[in-house]
Amino acid sequence: MKKVVLIAGGTRGIGKYLAKGLREDFLVGVCGRTAKREDSDGFFARKCDLTKRRDIRAFVSTALDKFLRLDTVIYNAGLMLYDDLLCVNESDLDATYKVIVKGYLFLCQEILPIMRKQRAGHIINISSTRGITAAAGKGVYSAMKRAATSLTDSVRLENAIYGIRATSVHFGVVDTESSREKYGDDLQKMNPISLECVLKTIKFLLSVEGERVTSLIVGGRL
Ligand SMILES: NC(=O)c1ccc[n+]([C@@H]2O[C@H](COP(=O)([O-])OP(=O)(O)OC[C@H]3O[C@@H](n4cnc5c(N)ncnc54)[C@H](OP(=O)(O)O)[C@@H]3O)[C@@H](O)[C@H]2O)c1
Repeated sequence: MKKVVLIAGGTRGIGKYLAKGLREDFLVGVCGRTAKREDSDGFFARKCDLTKRRDIRAFVSTALDKFLRLDTVIYNAGLMLYDDLLCVNESDLDATYKVIVKGYLFLCQEILPIMRKQRAGHIINISSTRGITAAAGKGVYSAMKRAATSLTDSVRLENAIYGIRATSVHFGVVDTESSREKYGDDLQKMNPISLECVLKTIKFLLSVEGERVTSLIVGGRL
């Protein structure tokens, strides 16, 4: 029986690549604000704004209707606001908080009761090396990623007795379209991780079922 993987934020970049790469071996559901509705064999996509609880509920309920259980939920949605702290405005701050922290907590609140009933489940937080250490010009992004890392630790501590695992994966710069737009020609000098490497990392995590891998660091300069 194939296991179920949901990817919150699966319309572009890392999330889209993971969805494509996991479809052969898993039942996969993805969402995003720009997702085109799709229902095919072992796969579905739904429009969903992860900062809205109602959208999250609908996404999770579609997954349960289709696949009957949730094995792994990957929180990949993010907004990479890079600016000096002196330049950060309130609306950018709120937008970053909403997608990286609030949406993640809302999603956890929807899926944890289900995983508790199953007495199994795995939540993977797609984080960044900035979820461990700060960097100049990335203060708000780093603060939000660190908050999500902390939430992941709390999820693990509060739910281990139900057989639920939670892992943060801290990637260094990844070669995605968003990174190309942000860094331009400087990207290659940063020795970015390939999307294939990201996929292999997640496949590794999915393969060590029952093991307690609490966090991974892949690439980056710490
Ligand atoms: N790229 C890197 O170098 C790098 C390095 C380390 C960690 N990361 C992390 O990896 C994740 C993905 O990065 P990426 O480069 O692939 O980014 P991306 O290309 O900008 O993709 C972001 C994804 O998040 C979704 N998303 C954003 N806001 C959303 C919302 N309110 N509701 C639902 N979905 C939302 C987007 O879908 P819609 O636009 O359709 O909503 C999209 O699918 C992020 O969490 C990022 O922090 C990236």
